[in-house]
Amino acid sequence: MKVSVKVPATTANLGPGFDCLGLALPIYNTITVEETIMPGTGIEINIIDETNEQDIISIPTDENNIVYKAIELLYNSIGQTPDELKITINTHIPIARGLGSSAAVVVGGLLAANKLLGSPADEAALLSIASEIEGHPDNVTPAIVGGFVIASFEEDGSVIYRKLPWPKDWKITVCIPDYELATDIARSVIPKDIPLKDAIFNLKHSAMLVEAVNSQDKELMKFALNDKLHQPYREKLVPGMKEIKDALKHEENVLGCVLSGAGPSLLVVSYGNNLNKIKEIISKTWLDLNVKSQIYTLDVEENGAVILE
Ligand code: HSE
Repeated sequence: MKVSVKVPATTANLGPGFDCLGLALPIYNTITVEETIMPGTGIEINIIDETNEQDIISIPTDENNIVYKAIELLYNSIGQTPDELKITINTHIPIARGLGSSAAVVVGGLLAANKLLGSPADEAALLSIASEIEGHPDNVTPAIVGGFVIASFEEDGSVIYRKLPWPKDWKITVCIPDYELATDIARSVIPKDIPLKDAIFNLKHSAMLVEAVNSQDKELMKFALNDKLHQPYREKLVPGMKEIKDALKHEENVLGCVLSGAGPSLLVVSYGNNLNKIKEIISKTWLDLNVKSQIYTLDVEENGAVILE
């Protein structure tokens, strides 16, 4: 028996909502988990890069693979171990670009393995295992449930989340540079202790952001898409980010530009139809720094992971 799951890309943080806000985007990975028939064949992991542009060589294909680790936690939670499994990952989501590629494969592997096992884990258990593997819930939650979410990974390992409708005319432009940035490196530059005034800054901006989405308030969203917890420290890892953010401040219809997750991709929230101008500013700023980019304007994906029959 085999099960395939299609999982959307995700963007986390949206500026001030570090480790708690995220939304799903319509780029997908498909993860297939198969029980191998021959005993003793062990674990086989295949990664197929559907874009032909990714560096998949460095991704482990043994027990150190995060999909395997997630599946192992699921099996362990019901007192079993995964002995014979074939895992195939078809990847479209750019790797290590801040678009939730690891969350997508973790979620896909978990949902597929859960179905193979007869669905012993409910959504709460799957969210909890996926967040434990990722270390934060802001990619795995929208990957599972879709849309715009506020998520909290609690000390007892549970995840509390709420999903809000994203305003239909607010577009997301993802700007993906031609280099990778590992999340652990992007997290290592953030100090462990931050000034109280910066914590207060983010508290009020993330609260305002949720209300801006809730009431489709563009002016409030413009105010809210600001952060002092992670982007000021990560800026040095993403050349051109400051220039792009500054240039877009003057563009009509732009509500804000933030790092997508841990970066290095940037995310522009906008409405209306001056998207070509926005793309031109970003690709030119990066090209001047010898950075090539891919830029897509997307709607938010309101659906989460889907089990393909
Ligand atoms: N909230 C996480 C971070 C997202 O910013 O490090 C990583 O994808």
